[in-house]
Amino acid sequence: MKRLVNTSITVAVVATIAVAGAVGFVYSGLYNIGADDHHTEPVLALMQTLRDRSIEAHSQHISVPDLEDPQLILKGAGQYAAMCTQCHLKPGMEDSEIRPGLYPQPPNLSKFRPDPREAFWVIKHGIKMSAMPAWGGSHDDATIWSMVAFLQKLPGMTSAEYEAIVARAPPDDDMAMDHAAGHSHEPQAEPGHAGSALPATAGSVEGAPVAPASVAQPASVAAPASVSPPGRG
Ligand code: HEC
Repeated sequence: MKRLVNTSITVAVVATIAVAGAVGFVYSGLYNIGADDHHTEPVLALMQTLRDRSIEAHSQHISVPDLEDPQLILKGAGQYAAMCTQCHLKPGMEDSEIRPGLYPQPPNLSKFRPDPREAFWVIKHGIKMSAMPAWGGSHDDATIWSMVAFLQKLPGMTSAEYEAIVARAPPDDDMAMDHAAGHSHEPQAEPGHAGSALPATAGSVEGAPVAPASVAQPASVAAPASVSPPGRG
């Protein structure tokens, strides 16, 4: 009995010291939270396990719609081009201005095909303490599924195939800025979407280059005319 009491006291003392040490460490400010300094192995392993288990647990009961629907895939192409390539790249794009500074590194989704349920959950809710935003605040579930459907097709696409599908994609109605994505600028393409949701925002975006998400766009600098396209407004 005495032995048991002694053991209990020892355990309690050790636990108290450990907790005090952890609290002291946190308050000391010693841990470097800078994104250009990587986590130590144990912290990284802990965070990755936390992330993976959380995503698995939260996404396992999501029911997946028909991801082979061509219209859904096409819509997703426009969404992806408008919002995701800076971080997740696209066929023919090896790096971007933002990627070297991101920690954790976003996966290259032109090479890696994520699980549909997990992708849906992550796109909708984002991932804490990473650069992955929660798109659910500004996009409905159907739109998020369109991105998931497109992500199943993206790995293996050539850059020509990618640019072709993005050019045919419907305009993104969620944000004015996104209209520029997936728009072909051949004049004969215009009548095709007359009467669509374009007029409200067309004046400000029609002159923008096809791929707004790409890093370098010297064309837009060299062409001030794109600010006020003639005949539009
Ligand atoms: C500002 C950068 C950034 C943008 C923009 C961004 N993401 Fe992410 N995304 C990340 C990062 C970083 C991760 C990895 C987070 C981690 O590993 O904890 C990630 C993870 C993901 C994953 C999980 C992949 C896996 O491992 O299963 C998916 C799917 C994803 N993003 C899709 C998208 C889509 C679709 C868009 C556009 C609507 C998008 N992301 C826009 C940074 C970004």
